[in-house]
Amino acid sequence: MPKILVLNGPNLNMLGTREPEIYGSLTLNDINNRLQKKAAAAGIDIDFMQSNHEGVLVDEVQAARGKYDYIILNAGAFTHYSIAIRDAISAACVPVIEVHLSNIHQREEFRHNSVIAPVAVGQICGLGAESYLAALEAAIIKLNGHD
Ligand code: DQA
Repeated sequence: MPKILVLNGPNLNMLGTREPEIYGSLTLNDINNRLQKKAAAAGIDIDFMQSNHEGVLVDEVQAARGKYDYIILNAGAFTHYSIAIRDAISAACVPVIEVHLSNIHQREEFRHNSVIAPVAVGQICGLGAESYLAALEAAIIKLNGHD
């Protein structure tokens, strides 16, 4: 069975109460439950992990090598400056789909650049919780070899 890891970075554990006008009112658990249902329907194993710590996220990406077929990653603010997470993605050789709830390109200038994007398969942003579901849909299509 293919395996997907959904990895969330700093402050995403605060979803639901964190700036709902930007990030929506669903909690991370709500989003993960939706992903879990979609993955189960597609016959895919899915795991979830969230950390506020850069090194822990690096460890998770490294450990994904050989274990997961795709990573769906919202690195939060680390997206914009963590060369360590970017290098872990390059080293791990696990395809990553970068996601964001908000449209980072419409927001403050410092959010426009993603250091993750050049080493990701693609980036989905601005669709709220649907960004994650669209990323999962894309991973399923790719894992089934139908793209
Ligand atoms: C975010 C966008 C980032 O700029 C921000 O630091 C986050 C959340 C998003 O999902 O929209 O923490 O990744």
